[in-house]
Amino acid sequence: MSDAVQRDALKRLAAEQAVTLIQSGMVVGLGVGSTAIFAIRRIAELLASGELRDIVGVPCALRVEEEAQRLGIPLTTLEEHSQVDLTIDGADEVDPQLNLIKGGGAALLREKIVAQSSRREVIVVDEAKLSPVLGTQWAIPVEVVRFGWGAQARWIASLGAEVALRRQPDGEPLTTDQGNYILDCNFGPIADLTTLATQLSLRTGIVDHGLFLGLATDLIVAGADGIRHIQR
Ligand code: 5RP
Repeated sequence: MSDAVQRDALKRLAAEQAVTLIQSGMVVGLGVGSTAIFAIRRIAELLASGELRDIVGVPCALRVEEEAQRLGIPLTTLEEHSQVDLTIDGADEVDPQLNLIKGGGAALLREKIVAQSSRREVIVVDEAKLSPVLGTQWAIPVEVVRFGWGAQARWIASLGAEVALRRQPDGEPLTTDQGNYILDCNFGPIADLTTLATQLSLRTGIVDHGLFLGLATDLIVAGADGIRHIQR
């Protein structure tokens, strides 16, 4: 089995384990990425077989909305349901306190809005995402408004990061579902997450950043030795 196939199998295991936490009648946040999609597909299967009933989903990205509609999952909004019972989402890097870097799929803003409205934020990963210190493996995605994005890039660089504007394969800047840009900001291992998160949050022109601190309630990790469920 290739590494990619093996990793996909682990992602699927973690995602399907998370789906066992869903009960009929729940409002469920539908996360983004190659791991969360396994959960969405499983939810659709359980709805089709009648094992789950009366689920409504809150999608964390436009492409997830389209996929959920295609799979027949009824959808809602945070206007209709301001409280989400349980969200299943992926992450790019996870530390031992269940702090996260997210935004590899450029959906960090909607993902964070849904996470902060969720009673349970269940993160599903394969074990390669575990890290002793955030920033060791992944740059922090920072969503910025297009106007003046270069000024934000220089300011973030002045904090000590290597900053790159995220681009599409054709070389054009990637735009988020909100029409903003993403700056990938490599700080290396981050000693003080709270200070950095606060600095980024206070800067006008920065819409949000991919540090998810204290938002995950559960982590489901699939690895060579099986599945672990860690609760905060
Ligand atoms: C999207 C995200 C994803 O959840 C994160 O990038 C993990 O994706 P994958 O499961 O494909 O590795 O934050 O913005």
